Amino acid sequence: PTTDLDYKVADLSLAEFGRKEIELAEHEMPGLMSIRAEYAAAQPLAGARITGSLHMTVQTAVLIETLAALGAEVRWASCNIFSTQDHAAAAVVVGPEGTPEHPRGVPVFAWKGETLEEYWWCTEQALTWANTPTGGPNMILDDGGDATVLVHKGVEYEKAGAAPSPDTADNEEHRVILELLNRTLTENPQKWTQAASEIRGVTEETTTGVHRLYEMFQAGDLLFPAINVNDSVTKSKFDNKYGCRHSLIDGINRATDTLIGGKTVVVCGYGDVGKGSAESLRGQGARVIITEIDPICALQAAMDGYQVARLEDVVETADIFITTTGNKDIILASDMARMKHQAIVGNIGHFDNEIDIAGLAAVPGIVKDEVKPQVHTWTFPDGKKLIVLSEGRLLNLGNATGHPSFVMSNSFANQTIAQIELFTKTEEYPVGVYVLPKHLDEKVARLHLDALGARLTELRPEQAAYIGVQVEGPYKPDHYRY
Ligand code: NAI
Repeated sequence: PTTDLDYKVADLSLAEFGRKEIELAEHEMPGLMSIRAEYAAAQPLAGARITGSLHMTVQTAVLIETLAALGAEVRWASCNIFSTQDHAAAAVVVGPEGTPEHPRGVPVFAWKGETLEEYWWCTEQALTWANTPTGGPNMILDDGGDATVLVHKGVEYEKAGAAPSPDTADNEEHRVILELLNRTLTENPQKWTQAASEIRGVTEETTTGVHRLYEMFQAGDLLFPAINVNDSVTKSKFDNKYGCRHSLIDGINRATDTLIGGKTVVVCGYGDVGKGSAESLRGQGARVIITEIDPICALQAAMDGYQVARLEDVVETADIFITTTGNKDIILASDMARMKHQAIVGNIGHFDNEIDIAGLAAVPGIVKDEVKPQVHTWTFPDGKKLIVLSEGRLLNLGNATGHPSFVMSNSFANQTIAQIELFTKTEEYPVGVYVLPKHLDEKVARLHLDALGARLTELRPEQAAYIGVQVEGPYKPDHYRY
């Protein structure tokens, strides 16, 4: 039991509420809970020191407590300044056996509404371990790659003997990171190099983080192996799609309470997130227009019955705009200048560079006003207002509570299995980026069927032989796309 926990959360008195919601979530997370039961005796993560950087929600609390139940020590930060649920963070710190006066859970550094300085400080705290050989973790569990990138940048600058001056930063967040790394270079010029030397690997949650990992690997810069959790079928084809189908409209509703039915909504991007987002909006009776750059996804959107258009052709007539691309500069200030009065603008992609908020702020005479936290109006000099959600950061976590438990059970079962794989079979994973084998992906799906009352048909041996698979799977070749 930990009595001298270091942590920083909003308010430990919220822990009781958090614990109640965690208990409800556990029932909705059969994948995680059966993995907990399966590995309770074996303790495969004993000796693991996991730094997590992932939205500190109720569902993540169940993940954290699963990792701990499998033997891991854990330190946690959120991967977004607005995504923490303060009661979940408090409950994790207090732990099932602790009290707010005597917290006995896991150190968490996260609260809803961090500044960028606080955000990167929290990430640093999650990566900094006292009383260990290297002062760092030996595993990272990442969402979007911020923890992994901080370690890599730290190592790069330590090798060079200096970090660039914060004055050279191209934006505010970059300046904060450079200030942090200049400070750690002075405090301990080997901090990140030492930490990286013991890190066995990272398991990465999302499309954008995976993209960063492949880039680092291709450039020869990746320092440790990575498992791409996002591209487990039971992650990206479920969380990204059905998760966003739930939480996108939840965010819009909680933020604005605007009737979605009858409105024209532009969804930029028709990948997994775009598909789920578009479906939920259509389900509410909206007329949905898709923008895409990829002809395959554009054709899919058309065949699914959506109008496919260019933003510039519909920007003046649509009511709601949602970016889902993981790309930058999707909605520019010049686009927003052309939108209707009280058009709603929001993003559900990982980073806040899809909508040019800095460009909007630079419009001469524009006035920003807070309606409530994470909901702002921007009033142009002619009186036209736009409603911007979560300052352009992912609105399903900023304005609502992210994806619900059942879908996150799939994602986090993959995360837990990936942590066990990398931690216990380190030598089987030379530096590179891997996806979990298909039989584990199928296992995750299997763990969720009973809870939905679904009865799977069993292949007969002759049938299995006829289609060339084993009775127990895997049932599809690796190139199958689902
Ligand atoms: P994806 O790669 O499947 O889809 C993105 C789509 O955007 C692609 O089809 C691409 O062609 C399209 N696109 C790129 N540039 C574009 C442009 N200029 N205009 C229009 N379309 C464009 O990626 P996925 O999995 O859908 O993820 C998208 C983003 O959402 C990523 O940043 C990911 O990390 C994030 N994400 C967020 C979640 C959330 O809960 N908010 C959950 C899962 C993923």
